[in-house]
Amino acid sequence: MVRSRTSPPSPLRRALGRLLAVGLVLALGVGGGVAALFVWSFTAADQEVRFTARNPLPIPPLAASRVVEGRRVFALEMREGSHDFGRGAGPVPTYGVNGDHLGPTVRVRDGEEIGFQVTNRLPETSTLHWHGMELPAAMDGGPHQPVHPGETWRPAWRVGQPAATLWYHPHLHGSTAAHVYRGLAGMLLVDDGEDERRGLPREYGVDDVPVVVQDKSFRPGRLHDSPAFFSSGGFLGDEVVVNGMVAPYLEATTERVRLRVLNASNARVWNLGLADGDPVTVVGTDGGLLDRPVTVDRVPLSPGERVELLVTLEPGEQVMVDSAPYRVGSDALQQRWAGGDDAFDVLELRAAARLAPAPEAAVAPPRATPVEEAGPEPARVRRFELTTPLINGRRTDMGRVDEVVTVGEAEVWEVVNRDGAPHNFHVHGVQFRVTDVDGASPPPYLRGRKDTVLLPGGTTVRLLVRFEEHTDPETPYMFHCHLLQHEDQGMMGQLVVVAEGQQAAERIEHREH
Ligand code: C2O
Ligand code: CU
Ligand code: CU
Repeated sequence: MVRSRTSPPSPLRRALGRLLAVGLVLALGVGGGVAALFVWSFTAADQEVRFTARNPLPIPPLAASRVVEGRRVFALEMREGSHDFGRGAGPVPTYGVNGDHLGPTVRVRDGEEIGFQVTNRLPETSTLHWHGMELPAAMDGGPHQPVHPGETWRPAWRVGQPAATLWYHPHLHGSTAAHVYRGLAGMLLVDDGEDERRGLPREYGVDDVPVVVQDKSFRPGRLHDSPAFFSSGGFLGDEVVVNGMVAPYLEATTERVRLRVLNASNARVWNLGLADGDPVTVVGTDGGLLDRPVTVDRVPLSPGERVELLVTLEPGEQVMVDSAPYRVGSDALQQRWAGGDDAFDVLELRAAARLAPAPEAAVAPPRATPVEEAGPEPARVRRFELTTPLINGRRTDMGRVDEVVTVGEAEVWEVVNRDGAPHNFHVHGVQFRVTDVDGASPPPYLRGRKDTVLLPGGTTVRLLVRFEEHTDPETPYMFHCHLLQHEDQGMMGQLVVVAEGQQAAERIEHREH
């Protein structure tokens, strides 16, 4: 039916009206679309990934070494390769060290003179950084020691720190996330020969097992690493890969298994425990063994952190090491998009029908730690405010000296996460102590030697930091968020350690690559 009007609207008004209507429809459509995308991504971001274990856990080989003039030297070659992650979909292009994917486990002894020949056979510049090592800054393998394609870099130093589970990975500014994700990472173990006395499992790959945990995403024929739309923390994967294998199981032949777990993920925080609810025993953290074992239901592990777990098994038992939700964001949205609501199976432990008996673990610290000896009077307090992608309001500048620290002085570092999303904080060249988390004393598993500490959204931690030995007024160590995309975006600063009274360089000379 046609309604009559008193006077027809002018063509101009008609056009305006049509424009308004189209605009309204568009606005509703786009708004609705955004809302739908938002709801969808919030819902889809919540992952629960379980698997039936089907692949034996690969054990990275021990790196070969030769002794040259009293120095143990390891040759490490970064190269391209392709690797089959056990998904039944064939190999995908990867990077590896002395192989197609990941790298061999390097074992060194406290007190030993060591050296590396790091050769770059990649089509691009990279570096190898010795995460957790106390060593001269020029040997650190950070962004100031690039190794160009075809070059060999030869760092050397004397190991001087307690037994620990450290690791190595590239650290080229802007490329760290991509290089680690493609497979450049390996374990670096410091031994002190005391594990037998401590009653700790110590047979590599049998009851003393490296466990490199990463999340990945796959597309046909390749690894996929674009961060999700709303994720501010960078890439979160939808499959768990342990030592380069999905759906892995470990065949255990002893009553007690020591798992040296490394979180080599880009941004994922794992919250590790046993699916059957049995507790696990934490014996070590980033920089060494705890004063005594701590029994917990679960232990969170952010990118770059390590934890040494003891799991006690019954003959014939099968138990899943898994990851449960953990509070990393300060509100429901941040929590969800940072992966805090996710749950994953990680590694199945299959105990043999007969298990070799294990002694009770009676961990004693390898030596009193310097920070404890430092006494209650810190030389100074420094504050670090984290706001993506800045530290204290600044992005990385490879020429700038952000902090000058005097060797041997104990300092308090107060690190504040001003965001609602998680960060963590890693310092090169030192092992620190976490003295409080949001004003409370830290949980027992955080009381050992640490080089990386998790800061869920809104968290403040205080650290006792003391550089013990090495000084270099011209070469910096880095400190940064170890969520690799944040680090690459510039959440990284430079610190120079000087002798008492020594002047630090005004600017750092940086070899551009
Ligand atoms: Cu895992 Cu700057 O390092
Ligand atoms: Cu490091
Ligand atoms: Cu961060």
